[in-house]
Amino acid sequence: MRRFLIAGNWKMNCGPSDAAGLLEGLKEQKSEVSEDVDVLVCPPYVSLSMSVNYLHDTDIQVGAQNLHFEDNGAFTGEVSASMLTEAGCAYVIIGHSERRQYFGETDESVNKKTHKAIDHNLGPVVCVGESLEQRKEGIHFDLVKDQVTAAFDGINEVDALDVVIAYEPIWAIGTGETASPEQAQEMHAHIRSVLSDLYDEDTSEGVRILYGGSMKPGNAEELLGQKDVDGGLIGGASLDAESFAQIITIAEKLS
Ligand code: 13P
Repeated sequence: MRRFLIAGNWKMNCGPSDAAGLLEGLKEQKSEVSEDVDVLVCPPYVSLSMSVNYLHDTDIQVGAQNLHFEDNGAFTGEVSASMLTEAGCAYVIIGHSERRQYFGETDESVNKKTHKAIDHNLGPVVCVGESLEQRKEGIHFDLVKDQVTAAFDGINEVDALDVVIAYEPIWAIGTGETASPEQAQEMHAHIRSVLSDLYDEDTSEGVRILYGGSMKPGNAEELLGQKDVDGGLIGGASLDAESFAQIITIAEKLS
């Protein structure tokens, strides 16, 4: 069985002092995490090192929200994979819809970043998902297929198993509107069939697929209870220690 991954994407929230407060609360709420569940927090760059230090005596891992696909050089404002591993990151979010929408992220840059993360033993959490217009047009399955296919271009089946996919329907992000468990399951199963075509059945079964979009304690159980939902990428609710801890507890119960 695939292990759940419960990941918090803090987005542009929590500089070092707020991060310390949130992590303190999380440690209080959740002093121990079952070994059947992986837990990850993704603070902004400036709070990564302190978060790693703060969590060193826990099983909670730290990830970044982006990386550049070059190793180093004249790329003002960017951060490379080796810098993230040096800071103690275990994962990195790639191609979040907010980056695609506001910062020119493309399927091509997502693919380059995915390769770079794998080269540096950073677990890529690759985000895919459609807008409301695309869903209304009925092109959401094709669009997500294209996003997944592009992200995995040139990645062999061994490395593919280290990639985590996060299905985040844009219309459900930060809106309070959640995909129904059926809608999530349907898309996750579709993504698995795309992976099966790209690789094989075993690989498609081994890749973790998270759901993201207004996941909270009140809906986590039915979403995480779906056969092909292997965890959550959680925005708003991860900024509240109690809510995030409750979602982790739900994943533990379902494991
Ligand atoms: P919300 O949980 O705030 O909807 O955000 C989801 C998300 O974008 C996580 O990456």
